[in-house]
Amino acid sequence: MQNALAKARARTITPRQLEVDIPPHTPRYWMGGDAYSTHLMNALSLLFPPGERFFMDAVREFRGQVSDPGLLQQVRGFLGQESLHSREHKTFNQWLAKFGIDADGIEQAVTDEIAERKSKRTRLDDLAVTCALEHFTAIMAEGWLDETEMRESAVEPLRTLWTWHAIEELDHKSVAYDVYQEIGGDYERRRAWMLRISFGFILGVSIMHMRFMWRDGLFKRPGYLAKRWWKYWGPRGAFTKLIPSYLSYYKRDFHPWEHDHNALIARFERVLSERYDAA
Ligand SMILES: [Fe+2]
Ligand SMILES: [Fe+2]
Repeated sequence: MQNALAKARARTITPRQLEVDIPPHTPRYWMGGDAYSTHLMNALSLLFPPGERFFMDAVREFRGQVSDPGLLQQVRGFLGQESLHSREHKTFNQWLAKFGIDADGIEQAVTDEIAERKSKRTRLDDLAVTCALEHFTAIMAEGWLDETEMRESAVEPLRTLWTWHAIEELDHKSVAYDVYQEIGGDYERRRAWMLRISFGFILGVSIMHMRFMWRDGLFKRPGYLAKRWWKYWGPRGAFTKLIPSYLSYYKRDFHPWEHDHNALIARFERVLSERYDAA
């Protein structure tokens, strides 16, 4: 882990430019024609613009208390990456409106919900919430990059959009956490917010996911839904595999770089640059 941490600390976090242009013929069920997976990803994407704005605000709040120049550079990189993610997911979410999804309304509702919750807690709590959700995004990013069949079922340019986002989530996965540690954030608060956020996040995504599937009449096909659910939550399911990484967050001496993602990042950076070269 020391080696992974040293490499991570030496890393300069740089936002990679991407501007997604979704062609008109892009299919509604862009995850290989699969409605279940498509709606799951759509639900996540609708959370990103308001969620990532919240992460940026939470980290910015404490930037003035960070003295380590390496970490300060990483904070700048983190802010740059998250703001580009928000912009590109906004484009993606606007495209969803074509299929009757009220992207603006949903993003506004999430923004209002975040503001309401923020008003009831401290800024240090916001940072602990950000650390927890950044851990979620990092493990989901790992899942996306690891699940070759699922990832490759996504049509272009959406596969590139999600792969680009996944790489950068791994790239900056420890920034909020390191800021939290540097300013003396305590273990109990970090653990308590992870517990609360896990429940709220999974419930929030599931409700939106189910609403989209309900609208498309998928509850008339329980066999299909059960099979897809099993693909994610069965014994070798895409989400089940992430549980050990998720649980590691509860250790007192946890650090995001105890899972070394340097090789994975490097591998997918090559995949992305080949796509850029071909474009
Ligand atoms: Fe992001
Ligand atoms: Fe992030």
